[in-house]
Amino acid sequence: MAETKKLLRALSGETMDVPPVWLMRQAGRYLPEYKATRAEAGDFLSLCYNSDLAAEVTLQPIRRYGFDAAILFADILLLPQALGAELWFETGEGPRMSTITGAEGLKALKGKDDIHDHMAPVYETCRILSRELPKETTLIGFAGAPWTVATYMIAGRGTKDQAPAHALRQEDEATFAALIELLTEATIEYLSKQVEAGCEVVKIFDSWAGSLKGEAFDKYALEPAKRIISEMKARHPGLPCIAFPREAGDKYIGFAKATGADCVALDNSVSTEWAVENVQKDGCVQGNMAPKLMVTGGQELIDETKRIKEAFSKGPHIFNLGHGITPDADPENVTIMLEALRG
Ligand code: CP3
Repeated sequence: MAETKKLLRALSGETMDVPPVWLMRQAGRYLPEYKATRAEAGDFLSLCYNSDLAAEVTLQPIRRYGFDAAILFADILLLPQALGAELWFETGEGPRMSTITGAEGLKALKGKDDIHDHMAPVYETCRILSRELPKETTLIGFAGAPWTVATYMIAGRGTKDQAPAHALRQEDEATFAALIELLTEATIEYLSKQVEAGCEVVKIFDSWAGSLKGEAFDKYALEPAKRIISEMKARHPGLPCIAFPREAGDKYIGFAKATGADCVALDNSVSTEWAVENVQKDGCVQGNMAPKLMVTGGQELIDETKRIKEAFSKGPHIFNLGHGITPDADPENVTIMLEALRG
């Protein structure tokens, strides 16, 4: 039977007049209904582990906008928590974690197969969603890339330049590499269960890939992505995989071929023309629109939507932002973007 889900068609390489569309962080604080459900759950982490409410917030943007894909509501930092790290969120400041500073901290973590009891509610969210999503909507599962997750585990928080993680990499590379190895293996187990529970695509978020340069990028961003994707495809033949090595710059070139990713997600620091020439030539691309346009709106939002659609129109493309939609975005701007895109 011919594939009817637009997102899966783009991921298999089809060029479409109107590309499929979804937004990173589409379930989030810019939506009043999200804030209401989060309040009902109590806090962000309680929402992540409440399967019914996590499914509810995943569905909210689908109901409101009819996006072509829903992304599982969870967080990349649930995996280190499942491995035994402490995790909490400071209101208005973001995530805080216990820190890994050397071999001791690494040894205290659990093994790759010990995460599933902790993650059971997340898998249940996937099962609810695969029942309740409209038949034309694709369910995307996800995990953080090992490097990005490691930056939080090492620093205990988000950092501007990922300095603590770079320091560990340089001063105790054996421990650092072993942490990346554990995260790579655990990510494969975690994503496999998401797929068994109904996710149809997986995406790997490497938000801090851009701070790895040269050989370090190949070793700790490209190699783990390649391992995860090849193992996922071996276990789940035909599973489409999206990779997001954010701010990789020139390292975007050839990333899909080298890792086996079916689609590379682009941030908004690379120019669209450059991405058409250097990245889309190898297959499907996603993203590239500046998130701030969802705040500022107006004619510029309409013009940019049409410009990006047109620029990528000669090859497979999934319309999205270059990073997550922000809490100060105007929900009405999403509607304006969708009208400009779909006509
Ligand atoms: O995209 C989606 O709608 C799916 C759910 C999702 C969340 N986080 C929910 C979330 C996904 C895919 C993520 C990925 C994630 N989480 C990344 C990679 C993508 C990126 O943004 O670079 C990272 C680095 C994290 C870690 C994280 N989680 C941070 C740094 C923060 C604080 C920053 C912020 O926006 O508040 C979070 C919290 C978070 N994760 C929120 C949401 C909806 C906001 C929490 C809230 O509701 O208060």
